[in-house]
Amino acid sequence: MHLTPDEQAILDGSQGKSKQKAMKLLAGLGEFYKADKLIQVSSVQVSGVSYKTGGEALISVLEEFANEGIMVETTSFLNPAGMDLVKWKEMGVTPEFAEKQKRIVELYTALGIQPTCSCTPYNIVEPPHVGEHVAWAESSAVSYCNSVLGARTNREGSLSALASAMLGKTPNYGLHLDENRKPTVVVELDCELESGDLAMIGRHVGTMVKSGIPYFKGIAEAKLSELKGLGAAMAATGSVALYHVEHITPEADGFDVSGLEVISIDENELDKIKALSRDPKADADLVFFGCPHLGEDEVEHILELLHGRHIREGVRMWLFVPRALLKGDISSKLDSLTTAGVEIFADSCCVVAPLDGLFKGIVTNSGKAAFYLKNLCDTKPVLMTTQECVDFAVGHFTNGTDELI
Ligand code: F3S
Repeated sequence: MHLTPDEQAILDGSQGKSKQKAMKLLAGLGEFYKADKLIQVSSVQVSGVSYKTGGEALISVLEEFANEGIMVETTSFLNPAGMDLVKWKEMGVTPEFAEKQKRIVELYTALGIQPTCSCTPYNIVEPPHVGEHVAWAESSAVSYCNSVLGARTNREGSLSALASAMLGKTPNYGLHLDENRKPTVVVELDCELESGDLAMIGRHVGTMVKSGIPYFKGIAEAKLSELKGLGAAMAATGSVALYHVEHITPEADGFDVSGLEVISIDENELDKIKALSRDPKADADLVFFGCPHLGEDEVEHILELLHGRHIREGVRMWLFVPRALLKGDISSKLDSLTTAGVEIFADSCCVVAPLDGLFKGIVTNSGKAAFYLKNLCDTKPVLMTTQECVDFAVGHFTNGTDELI
């Protein structure tokens, strides 16, 4: 990979040990993936924020960078932390964990990284435009960035994202290049879609296509939040970092997909996919919304579905939103949700928080959360549609024939 004289100088240590390490990492990645050069990125999303996953090792690395006075070279923001930075006690987080978690966020902030602590940065900061190069790390944000925004990022790891933030660059390979953004498989949907179905379909398609690039046909319209859920689920069960939706996503209509393998999903198949995870009698005591973090329209939708009903005893409902949303126009609706017994949190989510042993089971509408909660939180997750989750929380779950279960 070609390095400019300035880049070579950084690799030789001209700007200190930390930047030298960062350049070594990016140059190594570039060599491995046969990149021709490093390219500028307009933003970086840094993952690896929770003390639950990063531990003491993360604190020592960040302290080393902070001691050297390193500052990031491009707009950079943080993925969710292991707790709500203000209401952590209400999440059952211990003071010891809270102290470590606050230290991690402080250290990242000292490097010049914005402590947004959200996996939906595109709803907080100016989103990148079609064709713009960025280096984002959280898998659902990567999927949204590539697919829905049409900007370009590889699925960065926490270290490569941090190195990109420190240098403002990334190696030019993978999804930064036109030739690697072509669809590899068609997913033909021949079924009526209800709200929440795309997250279930995403969970199924991810397991089938792995790291492929699916091209969806048969989605007449989809809200941005539904595309967000579709991508998040495929990124979790497979490692899908880019998908296209005919007539909807920005690059879709530029491809000829004739001759590609086709995966068909009709009404019967969709029923089977939904039946796999649905469990109205789930032994769960938490309903979790906000993976990825909720936008205003999703908050409004949950409030509508509650329809004045209160969360039942023995069950909690947690919603996770970007902190910026708490102060926005939606705040009165968030207040109404709180009155209904819903608990609203920011900065974090159930997957990266230390929830082990706190809940018997967790019901969620997120294909991604349902995939990760089992292993990362030692709990039994159940995937349902948003309506079903709300009905479960208030104790009015029906079997589809108005009969209460
Ligand atoms: Fe975001 Fe946590 Fe889900 S980081 S995408 S809410 S697992």
